[in-house]
Amino acid sequence: MSLGPCEIFEVGPRDGLQNEKREIPVAEKVALVNKLSAAGFRRIECASFVSPKWVPQMAGSGEVLGGISRTEGVRYAALTPNMRGYEDAVAAKADEIAIFASASEGFSQKNINASIEEAFERFAPILEEARHIDMPVRGYVSCVVECPYDGKVAPADVARVADKLFAMGCYEVSLGDTIGAGTPDSIARMLLAVRDVVPVGRLAGHYHDTHGRAMANIDASLSMGVRVFDAAVAGLGGCPYAPGAAGNVATEAVNEHLTALGYDTGVDQAVVLEAAEMARAMRG
Ligand code: HMG
Ligand code: MG
Repeated sequence: MSLGPCEIFEVGPRDGLQNEKREIPVAEKVALVNKLSAAGFRRIECASFVSPKWVPQMAGSGEVLGGISRTEGVRYAALTPNMRGYEDAVAAKADEIAIFASASEGFSQKNINASIEEAFERFAPILEEARHIDMPVRGYVSCVVECPYDGKVAPADVARVADKLFAMGCYEVSLGDTIGAGTPDSIARMLLAVRDVVPVGRLAGHYHDTHGRAMANIDASLSMGVRVFDAAVAGLGGCPYAPGAAGNVATEAVNEHLTALGYDTGVDQAVVLEAAEMARAMRG
């Protein structure tokens, strides 16, 4: 029996590759995105228009977006921390963008050199401009359970940031367990608070698998009504400004799990496995 649709938002080419030690040529990134495009994902995050001094791995993002073969019905997404990034993303023809905030002050400072409030001030003109051209904007909240600098994060703090992103115009808010500290209980407590302020149908779970609990956290989120999960092929990734952050939960494992439970992901596991093989080879 089908339990209905459940979407996997592929973030490997961005959240995965931003953390790789090896300098990965644009052509390899393009080949990975093209393979992922054939797998059936509706959204693939493959670019990040941040400062190359902060994240050198994402420096070729414009060339990646320019080099891929775009598949009809797939949206190619890019991170944009400020107006400069937004303008670059628009010039490179990103189909949607993402702004990224944190529920904790420590991570906000270390990741984007701004307080939580200052980050919202930077995001406001992005949302304003995006509205004019009907550019979909996704919002991330990092450190939804714990921060590598400030320790435990209260669900109310996550709800406050998620509420603000949604109210500013983000069409979806992705909840990042940046260092994989979450457990099914703490994720459920966090979701209870966030669900009060953002409709659950507009939430996504973005769980790093540092302690091997990401899949259990997905299960907890499913039972709370979440039906979108971010994942990276081959479990690529981490965050350069979050010490201890391991990769995102692996797409192939999530797809297998959701399908076995009876959800329809629309994603072809055989193609995902080929993409995972490519991603592993890229790691060097
Ligand atoms: P700053 O140093 O405060 O900014 O950085 P600035 O305005 O003083 O600029 C510094 C330099 O960067 C200048 O160059 C700017 O031109 C340049 P210089 O004059 O020194 O030669 N610059 C840019 N270059 C290219 N693109 C831009 C851009 N903006 C400024 N958009 C800034 C502030 C936000 C730029 C910086 O902190 C930054 O780039 N941070 C990004 C960090 C990052 O990408 N982290 C990883 C993504 S978040 C994540 O992974 C978490 C997530 O997965 C969810 C989860 O797991 O929790 C989403
Ligand atoms: Mg992440």
